[in-house]
Amino acid sequence: LAFTSSAWAQSSYPERTVTVVVPFAAGGPTDTVTRLVAESMSKDLGQQIVVENVGGAGGTLGAGRVASADPDGYTLLLHHIGMATSATLYRKLAYDTLNAFDYVGLVTEVPMTIVARKDFEPTDLKGLVEYARANADKVTVANAGIGAASHLCGMLFMSAIQTPLVTVPYKGTGPAMTDLLGSQVDIMCDQTTNTTKQIKGGTIKAYAVTTPQRLDVFPDLPTTDEAGLPGMQVSIWHGLYAPKGTPPEVVEKLSQSLQKALADPNVVARFAELGTVPSPASDATPAALKAKLEGEITRWKPIIEAAGQYAD
Ligand code: MLT
Repeated sequence: LAFTSSAWAQSSYPERTVTVVVPFAAGGPTDTVTRLVAESMSKDLGQQIVVENVGGAGGTLGAGRVASADPDGYTLLLHHIGMATSATLYRKLAYDTLNAFDYVGLVTEVPMTIVARKDFEPTDLKGLVEYARANADKVTVANAGIGAASHLCGMLFMSAIQTPLVTVPYKGTGPAMTDLLGSQVDIMCDQTTNTTKQIKGGTIKAYAVTTPQRLDVFPDLPTTDEAGLPGMQVSIWHGLYAPKGTPPEVVEKLSQSLQKALADPNVVARFAELGTVPSPASDATPAALKAKLEGEITRWKPIIEAAGQYAD
């Protein structure tokens, strides 16, 4: 029979629930982006997609879980820039970053915001820099562990001010935000997906965005360039991955579904509210994600090696 059973199985993929692992705690930006995209893909594929939060070690535990999962298309990973930076930050990972995954496609590009508890003394970025330098042994910086986007951005901040601060790691910036709102921690650098609502609500203070241009969602919030930290720029791209060896027909079907999800009016509208920019359909492809991951590992390696002295 020319039409092999596996080809038949793949053409009817998915026949059962698909799990997407988010390598951070529930309630954070990676979780939020994933649930929005998964909801749309689920409708398109006609199967339930469940999101499983596997936090810890800055996202590398969750990535490792998917790297060792069956390559059958039923366990996927939605991860961000941390997939690239962890390749430099960790001497030993449970997976080989460039050989453990098949690529489905890019999902978003998300700005970061430098934020603080609402009762924190400094009123602008310049004041924050001065205060942090003068109180380095007291100022606490929340992040989601070594390899997280919040860790990378915090490292860039401490490197820019040439002052190591006290870092407080969480399993995701969802729980970190809870502590920021409770004034249990002083500052954080986090994705607009997680900070937009709080900034608009005045429940946290915002100092700057880490993009070259100001954001439509916050026209009065200065860029780091304008606010006195030129060059401190970082945007958080997210990618959807499958374990290496997943049937190409399955990867292609997932990529097609992802492209449709990113054009889904509901997804586009929600992303806009969150200051999250969906990747263009042309980037929701295996080739685009592969190129992005390889390029970003190369780009961030020297930056991390230079800045690493400021962040544990
Ligand atoms: C990060 O800092 O990498 C993410 O914001 C963590 C998360 O999505 O919770």
